[in-house]
Amino acid sequence: MSMIPDEVIEQVRDSADLLTIIGESVDLKRTGSDYRGPCPFHGGQHRNFAVIPKKGRYYCFVCKASGDVFSWYMKRFGLDYPEAVREVARKVGIVIPESTRQGPDPREPLFQAVAMAHDWFARQLRDAPDAEDARRYLLGRDVELETVEPFELGFAPRAQGFVQAMKALGLEEPVMLEAGLLARREDGTIIPRFRGRLLFPIHDLRGRVVGFGGRLLGPGEPKYLNSPESPIFRKGQTLYNLHAAKNAIRRDGAVIVVEGYFDVLRLVLAGCENVVAPLGTALTPDQAGLLKRYAPQAILLLDSDMAGLRATFRAGDELLRHETRVKVATLPAGEDPDSLVQRGGLAALEGILGDAVDIMERKIQLLDRKGWFSGIEHRRDALDRLLPTIRATKDPIQRELYLSLVAERSGVDKKVLEHEAAEAPAPRTAEPPGLRAAEPPSSSGSPARKAGSRTEQQMLRLLITDNEWRSRWRESMQTEWFQTPSYRALAEVLLTLREPGVAVPPETLSDAMRAEWLRLASSDIPLDYTGQANLFAAASRKLEARSEFQTWRELNERIRQATGAEKSALLALKDQKARELKLKYPEEFRTLGFQATRRGRRATQDADG
Ligand code: UTP
Ligand code: MN
Repeated sequence: MSMIPDEVIEQVRDSADLLTIIGESVDLKRTGSDYRGPCPFHGGQHRNFAVIPKKGRYYCFVCKASGDVFSWYMKRFGLDYPEAVREVARKVGIVIPESTRQGPDPREPLFQAVAMAHDWFARQLRDAPDAEDARRYLLGRDVELETVEPFELGFAPRAQGFVQAMKALGLEEPVMLEAGLLARREDGTIIPRFRGRLLFPIHDLRGRVVGFGGRLLGPGEPKYLNSPESPIFRKGQTLYNLHAAKNAIRRDGAVIVVEGYFDVLRLVLAGCENVVAPLGTALTPDQAGLLKRYAPQAILLLDSDMAGLRATFRAGDELLRHETRVKVATLPAGEDPDSLVQRGGLAALEGILGDAVDIMERKIQLLDRKGWFSGIEHRRDALDRLLPTIRATKDPIQRELYLSLVAERSGVDKKVLEHEAAEAPAPRTAEPPGLRAAEPPSSSGSPARKAGSRTEQQMLRLLITDNEWRSRWRESMQTEWFQTPSYRALAEVLLTLREPGVAVPPETLSDAMRAEWLRLASSDIPLDYTGQANLFAAASRKLEARSEFQTWRELNERIRQATGAEKSALLALKDQKARELKLKYPEEFRTLGFQATRRGRRATQDADG
């Protein structure tokens, strides 16, 4: 019998709408916060059978039948547990991987490593003499160690000690590297990734720590450093605090999205529990999909400056694409949720949340204030700003409401708007837009090389387009992944820049590099955030995979030259690496890896022969 991973079971349970499912065969009526009907199990006539949607459970006061959505299917339809899980999964549209996996999760060592580190960091914050600054820092921000306990904060000291402590517990360097606890410097030396930082542990949905966000105690760059991506930590699929907030989100029917760790912390301490934050980047499609499972509504509570508004509307479109209703709460200029609540308490927050308006109204409000609806010449522009949001709106009723609203405000006939909105930019395909874009033939090189440098070009375009991609790159990627020397050089320069778009290259570059930069800057790139995010994800993954496969291939050279015990050790290492790569890049393993395997075999045979 195949095993279904626990996190998938959890996901399925969370996504199921128990009320609708039971409502299909029991006549339920609302009573207070529960729903009551005749019990199907003992065949009662009276409404003694209760469904409690907030808890995801049912209960009969007479026959005491009770359970969750899975036990409903098991008892009602005689399914066994895995069958029930699969049935519910099918209903809610979650694909259960046909696992051929046997035994424990291969990522277990990573979870363990991060858990052990987490424990150690938390202990440092509580007890270590050299965490005094961190404790004082928290107090300085009005955060008491005792009340903040549920957040399990930690401290990574500057001084040595972490690596020894972990090694004493049996952790080895490669695991710590892969878990992002250690980092490799340019010169090859290995150091703890977090030094002198207050750590916010980041949990997955099952409450396991998978990474950290680390804040400097004083000024410096970067202010926050996050764990890099790893097999257990996918930033784009993780939301800070969701594991703790999910019940509150379901209970309140809404999630509040804020920007940072401290905002979450402050709101929760003030008693507002249904809060999450993305991890230092704009809300991704996966994150929006995740939120949709818990609540039909989101309230965006981000900064009200230009950058904050941009983030708000991007996140809003993403949520609308996932059939979530979106409201925007507007903070006073210069405040973030943390400072607002620290100063004005829960009351201030409630005021702001109470004034939240629907995202489309907020957009119109802002355009209106700039006079975009007063003159004819601006109206077209205003519509161009509103149409993408209408297009993003997947819920048909919501879309209809938006069309009416915009028609009314702009004086443009609704039919015309509808037509315009329908002429959506090319539909999204599985392949991120842009990867297939025709390219001028690049210089010489093998086909693989050309394909690779095409991805490098795509990535450079993204890096030119927005600092968001640069900061993501800086966080967890390596310039060495660019293998074309001139591209790597461009990337190195680009990555030092912090402003949004840099269509004009710095004067200091050579003419040839400037020309290349301009060519890249003017070529085509998806305009919308989702398109770019998809492209970024696909391209960075490709570059990383290519670089890892290359390192692996280079082992062949060493194997060829080695003899005896060294040779068999290297062969074993190569095998182990292959297993890792297969796990990490199943897709690429079949393409990139296949060629490598054949080449590898030949190399070994050569050496033998
Ligand atoms: P902000 O810069 O708005 O900081 O970053 P903040 O949340 O107000 O933090 P405090 O109050 O100064 O401590 C918002 C979020 O963006 C990410 C983090 O997730 C942070 O919580 N971020 C910010 C980074 O990942 N790296 C950075 O260098 C800065
Ligand atoms: Mn802040």
